[in-house]
Amino acid sequence: MIIIKNKASIEKMHNAGKLLSEIFEQLPNVILVGTSTLVIDSWIEKELLKNGLVSKMKGYMGYKHVSCISLNDEVVHGVPTDSKIVKQGDLVKIDVCASLKGYCADMARCFFVGESSKEIKQLVEIAKRALDAGISKAHAGNHLTDISAAIQAEIDKYGFGILKDFAGHGIGKSMHEDPEILNYGEAGKGPVLQVGMAFAIEPMITLGGDDVYITQDGWTVKTKDKSFAAHVEDTIAITNEGPIVLTRYNQEERV
Ligand code: MF3
Ligand code: CO
Repeated sequence: MIIIKNKASIEKMHNAGKLLSEIFEQLPNVILVGTSTLVIDSWIEKELLKNGLVSKMKGYMGYKHVSCISLNDEVVHGVPTDSKIVKQGDLVKIDVCASLKGYCADMARCFFVGESSKEIKQLVEIAKRALDAGISKAHAGNHLTDISAAIQAEIDKYGFGILKDFAGHGIGKSMHEDPEILNYGEAGKGPVLQVGMAFAIEPMITLGGDDVYITQDGWTVKTKDKSFAAHVEDTIAITNEGPIVLTRYNQEERV
């Protein structure tokens, strides 16, 4: 069942999203060569606390951290560790879900450490473009898979891999609500979108194939062919005026 939110609830999610996106803005100052992903996670935890945000990840199915930090060929759900040290040329994906007064925002971004290849820069650019293409379909009256198809169309132009086993999701008071939002599929299927729905849309794409596996830590999702991967995520709400991005405080919230 897709939970419909009223304006006040969406406003609360927006407040969470504003604070979370402000924390993300500072991340480039923290993702420095020689820093462990555990130190980055601890910094995020401190910032969440400062802002009154409550982590939705810590404690979720036994997860012990407030962020997922995935490097290079790790796609998503990278577990922060003191032995994973950021180095020149790394592509760092950070994903954080937190709530303010019980209302969640979920967001992920890619960060380059030093210079990256043209290919990797393009991969990230296309992930962002695919996210925006998906968001632009989040209008009342459209079908859910219009979002999925728009994401896939963007990625298919470049022949990048799309993860099939992981998806975006509804979001509200819980981090994960119905529906599941695949990053591929045929348009015109699934529930009809309505004002008051809120989604976390999150394309996960690779430079190579779409085969992935979960590492020894039980969480980290890695590409089998070791190709680099990109992941970006925003929390959006469907309003009478179309989609609004709740996790882009200092950026354009309309796509
Ligand atoms: N925020 C992520 C998502 O969109 C990751 C959840 S996994 C967690 O689903 F355990 F780390 F929280
Ligand atoms: Co999510």
